[in-house]
Amino acid sequence: MDSIEKKISELLKKMTLDQKVGQITQPERQFVTPQEVKEYHIGSVLSGGGSVPGDNTPADWIKMNDEYWAASMEADDNHLAIPLIYGVDAIHGNTNVKGAVVFPHNIGLGAAHDPDLIERIAAVTAREIAATGVEWTFAPTVAVARNSHWGRTYESYSEDPRIVSEYAPRFVKGLQGDFGEEKVVACVKHFVGDGATTHGIDQGDMNISDEELRRIHIPPYRAAVKAGVLTVMVSLSSWNMEKCHGHKYLITDILKKELGFDGFVISDWDGIDYLADSYEESAVMSLNAGMDMFMITGRWKEFIEYIKKNVKSGRIPMERLDDAVKRILRVKFKFGLFDKPRPAERKLSLQNSIFGSLEHREVAREAVRKSLVMLKNDDDILPLNKNARILVAGKNAHNRGHQCGGFTVAWQGVNDNDPEISGSYTETDTESASPRKNLNISETNSLILGGTSIWEGINRVVPNTDLSIDGSAADPDKHDVAIVVIGETPYAEMLGDIRVGGLAKGLNISKGSTSEDTLPGEDIPIMKKGPYGTHLYLHELHPEDIATIKSITSKGIPVVTIMICGRPLVVNQELEQSKAFVVAWFPGSEGQGVADVIFGDYPIQGKLSFSWPRYDDENWNLGDKDYNPLFPYGFGLEYK
Ligand code: GLC
Repeated sequence: MDSIEKKISELLKKMTLDQKVGQITQPERQFVTPQEVKEYHIGSVLSGGGSVPGDNTPADWIKMNDEYWAASMEADDNHLAIPLIYGVDAIHGNTNVKGAVVFPHNIGLGAAHDPDLIERIAAVTAREIAATGVEWTFAPTVAVARNSHWGRTYESYSEDPRIVSEYAPRFVKGLQGDFGEEKVVACVKHFVGDGATTHGIDQGDMNISDEELRRIHIPPYRAAVKAGVLTVMVSLSSWNMEKCHGHKYLITDILKKELGFDGFVISDWDGIDYLADSYEESAVMSLNAGMDMFMITGRWKEFIEYIKKNVKSGRIPMERLDDAVKRILRVKFKFGLFDKPRPAERKLSLQNSIFGSLEHREVAREAVRKSLVMLKNDDDILPLNKNARILVAGKNAHNRGHQCGGFTVAWQGVNDNDPEISGSYTETDTESASPRKNLNISETNSLILGGTSIWEGINRVVPNTDLSIDGSAADPDKHDVAIVVIGETPYAEMLGDIRVGGLAKGLNISKGSTSEDTLPGEDIPIMKKGPYGTHLYLHELHPEDIATIKSITSKGIPVVTIMICGRPLVVNQELEQSKAFVVAWFPGSEGQGVADVIFGDYPIQGKLSFSWPRYDDENWNLGDKDYNPLFPYGFGLEYK
């Protein structure tokens, strides 16, 4: 037996039933105190999207996690010192935290077709997570999204399992690496087939054969397990009407036995709530199906009592509970958590100037450049001449929040800028010189600190560019060309769904929000928000965009359109009115990368990793019979 397995076995023998059940329980931070972590022997705590401590600075995060960790290590007659592991959704950078570098969401990275870049992004992300005292991220998402109506399409690299299977192990390696001081624990999600539900309904039902499941949706997990991923999160969706959270064939037979996964499996947010008629039955069913750790908001004490009761009665075999605990201990030992100093005394906690650094931002800027896909370029209007007289317009031209998308500072993302500080990093800037380097978080009410809006990036290449969000300042005597930045605004999960016919079953919005909770900068309570729309037509979702474009073209000024979006949309009208059309996806904080390309300092090279629809009711995927999308998988115009 190797030394880790020996340590696990010896520790397990010392653990009481209460300590074992506490170890498999993961409350959300709003529902548990450090004192309760010790009292109930809790193994992990998480932050849901937007659930942040204090002023949401790295120091606040380090302080919070240090308190939780210290409580878990305060051994006494009743409590064993087993280090707590803290989890966050750092899915495109450590983006809960103000000032983090925000990378393009996965759909843009899929268009970059650069696995080496993926590993470098993951390594930077790991450093920015570790710099906040956190040890675990619920990333990468390895969904193979098959329907663009899904609100989480942007979390998927591609509709093609080959790209996702190539990227998954590289992102895992970039995050986990040698489990050293600059690394964190990875979590591939959501097992399995979250992107294959009928009509793309989030948390809906995947009605496909075992053969298709294995051909399309299992391969990324096989690759990630082979690469040594330590955790897997289960999907909130169902397979042929059976919830994944209670699916023994999927979790135990396929993931653990067939793929040989020996880390631990975690549930998604209150994911067991809907399994059976009672919460007790749901908890028993999920643990017996192979779930090892349970992500629970308010009902975690109830959960603990039900598990203890059913282990004592034998409905949950002690072997199953022991297996779950051993898997969790194995991850903690493999990651070296027992030997690491407390969060406040770790290397990157003490040297967190790398957090949001220029070096990290340059990796994100490179990712933006490589993610851009050009769908149209009449008369080779791109790349633009730097001496041209340029008007910049569109609601997404100067809004870092919009360009970052969901899971950025807030669960649903934010509408934000920090206009107080114009300009930003320039090539000649050094860390000390940049206006944001010395920014005191409290000095600005901005939520997205650092980076550049797309307009700021353009304005640095061509100074004194006019900004007119609705385009009304367009003047053919003053402007040779207009760059209009249009598209979607931030969303996440089910609130991003496009649901033909309005709301459908499965819009379960908990996230710890009460019915009156609202999102930052919004006045509609979360519980009352519906899906993003009912059709993929951009002119219906955002009529202001075609209006802005037309108001400019009607004056005889050619338009270069840049679209911010989390998925392919039907944009026939917008395309027709534009001389050139570039898809920027959700590019993140480094909008400068767009200017790098549209003025020709770098080539445009992105290729679609998703098929592009002509109409809303088309749902093309590579390999379909009579495949005939508007723009096929792999499409992207170039200039060198
Ligand atoms: C969510 C998501 C999952 C995320 C988790 C924690 O509901 O489905 O991707 O990791 O909650 O925020």
